[in-house]
Amino acid sequence: MSIEKVGVAGCGLMGSGIAEVAARAGKDVRVREIDEAQVEAGRGRIEKSLGRAVKREKITAEERDEVLGRISFTTEVEALADRDLVIEAVVEDLAVKNELFQALDELCGDQTIFASNTSSLTITDMAAAVNRPDRVVGLHFFNPVPVMKLVEVVRTIATSEETFERAFDFAGELGKEPVAAKDNSGFVVNLLLVPYMLDAIRHLERGVASIPDMDKAMVLGCGYPMGPFTLCDFVGNDTTLKIAEIMFDEYREERYAPPPLLKRLVAMGRYGRKSGKGFYDYSGDEPVPLDVG
Ligand code: CAA
Ligand code: NAD
Repeated sequence: MSIEKVGVAGCGLMGSGIAEVAARAGKDVRVREIDEAQVEAGRGRIEKSLGRAVKREKITAEERDEVLGRISFTTEVEALADRDLVIEAVVEDLAVKNELFQALDELCGDQTIFASNTSSLTITDMAAAVNRPDRVVGLHFFNPVPVMKLVEVVRTIATSEETFERAFDFAGELGKEPVAAKDNSGFVVNLLLVPYMLDAIRHLERGVASIPDMDKAMVLGCGYPMGPFTLCDFVGNDTTLKIAEIMFDEYREERYAPPPLLKRLVAMGRYGRKSGKGFYDYSGDEPVPLDVG
């Protein structure tokens, strides 16, 4: 039984990308955001990304319109009741995710699978909070979702084989390369990537080199597509801070501890690209490094 009706909760950086790729794969997609302003912001993100695909001649303007026609938007959680699969991409906060899944647990039929796009929480902590732990799975996409090929598919000890297989196949239908991961905080990629990002901030605090020079070093020295500070701003410093707090709480290892500079940037609203300023200022044509020392 393939998954055709998809719900996406949260239409920020990740939810907008997940909704886009699902609709591009022909799925009927319904997106839930918290209010009309966020619905419009999310719709704008999807339109912008599809506009980019048209410009690059990846899809035609007609195909863009068809994709947009397959996505509906709502602020009502009830509107997700008939979905085969609901993927949550709300903020990285267990209480917010569990509140959403508990509401959906009451509303959705038995057929609905719940998936989380969490970066660092465990799927078990969400599965344990609902009455369908066998139908809860992790589907961890990467940013930018339309471009990055990987999806980590995560099962808990309670996830049924059928749920796992349907989620795994769904990722493949979206044109992604799924890998199976165990339910540990950070799965595979973030276990390795998060300490690297946090280390870069710690070394900046120590004055090792400037922001653009450290970024340049990793791009030109290692062939990384973007340097660590460009990446932090791209992921969102607010999200990276939440991830670090969760992973540090889980492992109690220094490498996951949020560096003070990251906390200060978030306190000042310097979330990165999405707020216009982070390690760089994005108000002009080119990003300009900021003095954060
Ligand atoms: N949305 C949609 N498409 C995008 C995009 C976006 N935000 N940004 C770039 N693209 C597309 C472009 O349209 C282009 O597509 P085609 O090849 O089909 O024409 C392609 O990506 C390349 O774009 P550009 O040439 O403009 O830019 P680039 O070569 O500099 O690549 C990039 C941009 C793909 C983002 C690249 O810099 C990159 O791979 N960066 C690293 C991203 C990364 O590490 N992501 C993982 C973050 S961690 C995470 O996601 C997990 C977590 O839990 C925090
Ligand atoms: P974001 O801040 O860009 O978007 C989160 C969205 O969720 C916001 O638009 C907010 O209005 C909405 N929201 C909050 N509560 C909601 C609710 N109850 N129902 C519906 N919408 C709600 O964050 P993001 O970067 O898209 O991250 C979302 C999730 O994806 C997080 O769990 C994050 O860890 C994970 N993730 C992020 C990245 C990344 O690179 N940013 C990569 C992979 C996974």
